[in-house]
Amino acid sequence: MCGIVGYIGHRDAYPVILKGLQRLEYRGYDSAGIALYDGLEIKLSKTKGKVADLELKFSQQIEPKGSLGIGHTRWATHGIPNDTNSHPHFSNSGDLVIIHNGIIENYEALKQELIKRGYHFSSDTDTEVLINLIEDIQKNNGLKLGKAVQVALNQVIGAYAIAVFDIKKPNEIVAARLGSPLAIGVGEGEFFIASDASPFLEYTNNAVYLEDEEMAIISLHNPLNIRKIKDDRLVSPYVQELKINLEQIEKGGYDHFMLKEIFEQPHAIKDTYRGRLLTDEGIIKMAGIEDHMAKFLNANRIIIVACGTSWHAGLVAEYIIEELVRVPVEVEYASEFRYRNPVIDNSDVVIAISQSGETADTLAAIKLAKEKGAFVFGVCNVVGSSISRETDAGAYTHAGPEIGVASTKAFTTQITVLTLIALRLAKAKGTISNTDFRAHLVELEMIPKKVEEVLKSETLTKEIAAIYKDVSNFLYLGRGFNFPVALEGALKLKEISYIHAEGYPAAEMKHGPIALIDENMPIAVIATKYGHYEKVVSNIQEIKSRKGKIIAVVTKGDTQVKGIADHVIEIPETIELLSPLLTTIPLQLLSYHIAVMLDKNVDQPRNLAKSVTVE
Ligand code: G6P
Repeated sequence: MCGIVGYIGHRDAYPVILKGLQRLEYRGYDSAGIALYDGLEIKLSKTKGKVADLELKFSQQIEPKGSLGIGHTRWATHGIPNDTNSHPHFSNSGDLVIIHNGIIENYEALKQELIKRGYHFSSDTDTEVLINLIEDIQKNNGLKLGKAVQVALNQVIGAYAIAVFDIKKPNEIVAARLGSPLAIGVGEGEFFIASDASPFLEYTNNAVYLEDEEMAIISLHNPLNIRKIKDDRLVSPYVQELKINLEQIEKGGYDHFMLKEIFEQPHAIKDTYRGRLLTDEGIIKMAGIEDHMAKFLNANRIIIVACGTSWHAGLVAEYIIEELVRVPVEVEYASEFRYRNPVIDNSDVVIAISQSGETADTLAAIKLAKEKGAFVFGVCNVVGSSISRETDAGAYTHAGPEIGVASTKAFTTQITVLTLIALRLAKAKGTISNTDFRAHLVELEMIPKKVEEVLKSETLTKEIAAIYKDVSNFLYLGRGFNFPVALEGALKLKEISYIHAEGYPAAEMKHGPIALIDENMPIAVIATKYGHYEKVVSNIQEIKSRKGKIIAVVTKGDTQVKGIADHVIEIPETIELLSPLLTTIPLQLLSYHIAVMLDKNVDQPRNLAKSVTVE
């Protein structure tokens, strides 16, 4: 993954890059570095650790001067996180310097070639190979930096977003992308380069997003020069006006982004259905669906591909779509789908779900599905992301930026969009009655208010967190629409508290997990008052007779589970298929508070990253 930032212009580059890296830390945070050109030489500082460690190192070592610079926050792929493997990397001559997000797959072969030609390497990274390849090409052919980068990239297999500069031409940065995102902020006499727009939002609202296989020569003296890496074709830059603001990407008084994002859910869900859910008129309007209605209605099946939390949203959608639309749905991990030669053709509709819109496995799954003739629909949060561009059509979740690595509002807004899609298709297909359709619209519109009500259980979840924070294992059980919620609850806890947790369909408990239950095992059970209620109550009894501790999420007014469970968190009554939007909230809060009490880094849990642009 990794986050990259570059600056060229009239300001001091250091604060721009440092703050930019802090905003991009969600992409990786095991090491960081910045290279600045101060008019005489390149000043480089890099370190294992976070951007805050880099800041400290800079303040002890270097006067951060210069209005040209590049910086990097790393999520290690090749080579362990240490000072040497951190970016930026120099070429052997010391003239060229690079930052890179991605993986050069054929780096070993290229490295051996370069070693034969006398190059030496101090790090274990693929990136140091790339910068020396560029240098080699530049020297042997007397090429300008842009041309040398282009020739080098044509020899490279893999994925990259890079920024490179040459001390011999310090008014230019060359950037390029393939498979990893890269945005160029266009200011007055200045340019910014970054993995997303957040590092430059306070300076400019104008951005150019590079497409795959494009490179940019960003110079202070010439107009922005964008060309295709393969055939050198010029591309006229499409400057977009950004709609996000700074406030949206700051913590707004909350201790952590994760908590802020949990509490943003009522608003985010409303933003997701705004303009689409027209209760008064009794309709759902979604351009991406209307324009391709025949594709959906003629589909033999729907295949959902996604990773992580988005995959859990896909599982919820499987239940919802099959229930409402009566079309078979399969949900696949994108990483499995892409490598298993799936049986798929033009009668299939593929829905790809991704918060970031950049997940490498999901992107590859989309490409494969398209090759096989399927129609691919994207559900993404990040506007203009690679997945949103790669898909045939799509619907944004409009959740606003999600910064906390553990996904929360992305999950509920993805379920909201997918519910809207299911309802719209059911209406078109006639698999839902008019009365039921209207009832669902009305109820969906009320969900934000009900989420607000659930959020009031925060104090209670905090008390429960205090009791169980020191356990080593947790079990999560749910059935039907709430089985995926159990998986998501377990994932949230694992991700941020490092407590081992498993999610299971409640009735499967007897086929294995029941062996784990004793007086030390807390079990979060979603026991809302729907179809399977009595059966889940029996599961709770089975747990109690083995002395397990029950944290139950129940429907308001429940008395039966209250009588047995150790702790009960109530959610308001709603239509069963909408209940995941409510039941998931207390589980998010529970994992958040356990992690905080354990003093874990909630927003940046170890080894994880928000946007996984490597496979
Ligand atoms: C990473 C993140 C998860 C996310 C998953 C899929 O693992 O840490 O929070 O669910 O990627 O990401 P996507 O952006 O495709 O939804």
